[in-house]
Amino acid sequence: MGLVKFFGLLLSAASAQVLLDSGAPEDNLPWGSPVTTDQALAVGFRSLSGCNVGQSIDYANITVNTANIDTKATWIALDICPTVNNLPVCDKGSTPDRFPIHTASKRIQFQWFPSAAKKLLDDTRYWLVMTSNVVEMGQAVIWYDGRTRFGPKSDPKNDTLSAFTLSSNMDWVVDEAKDGRTVASVQIVAKV
Ligand SMILES: *[C@@H]1O[C@H](CO)[C@@H](O)[C@H](O)[C@H]1NC(C)=O
Ligand SMILES: *[C@@H]1O[C@H](CO)[C@@H](O)[C@H](O)[C@H]1NC(C)=O
Repeated sequence: MGLVKFFGLLLSAASAQVLLDSGAPEDNLPWGSPVTTDQALAVGFRSLSGCNVGQSIDYANITVNTANIDTKATWIALDICPTVNNLPVCDKGSTPDRFPIHTASKRIQFQWFPSAAKKLLDDTRYWLVMTSNVVEMGQAVIWYDGRTRFGPKSDPKNDTLSAFTLSSNMDWVVDEAKDGRTVASVQIVAKV
């Protein structure tokens, strides 16, 4: 009996926890940001605290507009990157997962399961980073904003932030943590 209970505990310990849900995009004329070789885009989030069994990324859902892309030559890449001095700094050894996108659509949701384990430290800020091979803004994948508004009440530590690069050198800038801000539409889920 003791053994059965022990396995039961192990099973119930493995669970999925949402780290960030910024909501679906608005139904009408949602805002969004084009992702190009010069302009990578990132959303900040914090890992779970008090999680003594270890945690890693299970998956992330993102919602984008691919209506204007070249369906034969476009890819986006996703990675989870640590925070250094409030900015995303991706590990040198980390290879982002790259997805060719063949579907032109005004609104499409992708579910990303990292191909390699993305382990997270407890109670630590990370970034979900999107890059792309698209050069022209007008042909870019547009990462829609989610409809959830963030501010001091819902996000007292300013974890939920947007960051973008100013060039392909990955020189990041973080948007100010304005009250009522939105960030790119994402659901980030950890497995514990
Ligand atoms: C992510 O998307 C999948 C597929 O649409 C859905 O089943 C799942 O519930 C979504 N996760 C969250 C946290 O919303
Ligand atoms: C969050 O950002 C706002 C706006 O920049 C700032 O006033 C506030 O002090 C920040 N809070 C923390 C905990 O850093």
